[in-house]
Amino acid sequence: MRTIADHIYDIASNSIKAKSSNIHLKIIIQNNKFIFKIQDNGSGINEEILKNIFDPFITSRNKKIRKVGLGLPLLKQNTELTGGYVVIDSKFWEGTYLEAQFLTNSIDMIEIGDIAGTITGLITAEISIDWEIELTSDTTSERLTTIELKNILGDIPLNNIQVIPIIKNIIQDICSTVFENV
Ligand SMILES: Nc1ncnc2c1ncn2[C@@H]1O[C@H](COP(=O)(O)OP(=O)(O)OP(=O)(O)O)[C@@H](O)[C@H]1O
Ligand SMILES: [Mg+2]
Repeated sequence: MRTIADHIYDIASNSIKAKSSNIHLKIIIQNNKFIFKIQDNGSGINEEILKNIFDPFITSRNKKIRKVGLGLPLLKQNTELTGGYVVIDSKFWEGTYLEAQFLTNSIDMIEIGDIAGTITGLITAEISIDWEIELTSDTTSERLTTIELKNILGDIPLNNIQVIPIIKNIIQDICSTVFENV
């Protein structure tokens, strides 16, 4: 069973695979809703594919490994089961925007999962990408960029094995501050 964190990982991995150099991830927990928004500046999706993007047979994966792409269809299913939605908008060669909403008081709401671990995994996976992360709740909002983290770290790379747990702690602290009741 996928958690919301797993879905965020799936969708942001699409942005990484699309050769984005900038990825903006917003997570909002407000008014019984869990919303995440991802904007990238990667390859974009051509119109023909975009029209059928929630069809599991649409994928640019190597077809010898697996014919179908599952990231988007599963996300659509899990949001809609709660009464939420997913929308995607993309311009070929410009980038892609995706927004997913879950209604948290639905009996079909899935577990949120490990948001801090997921964000840490994403931003340390491909360290040439500039990430902007924004977390928002009813009362607070926090923002973190990999450019700021890189400035603090100086010559030490973001994916340095001793640095990764420190980054995870920083992100965990931000998550706890913003989403204290979650
Ligand atoms: N941000 C994006 N930028 C460019 N293309 C995208 C993006 N997101 C999705 N796509 C396109 O949509 C297809 C379907 O995406 P989806 O996540 O459903 O499946 P997948 O990534 O192919 O496989 P899986 O997620 O199961 O590993 C991708 O193969 C890719 O061609
Ligand atoms: Mg995918």
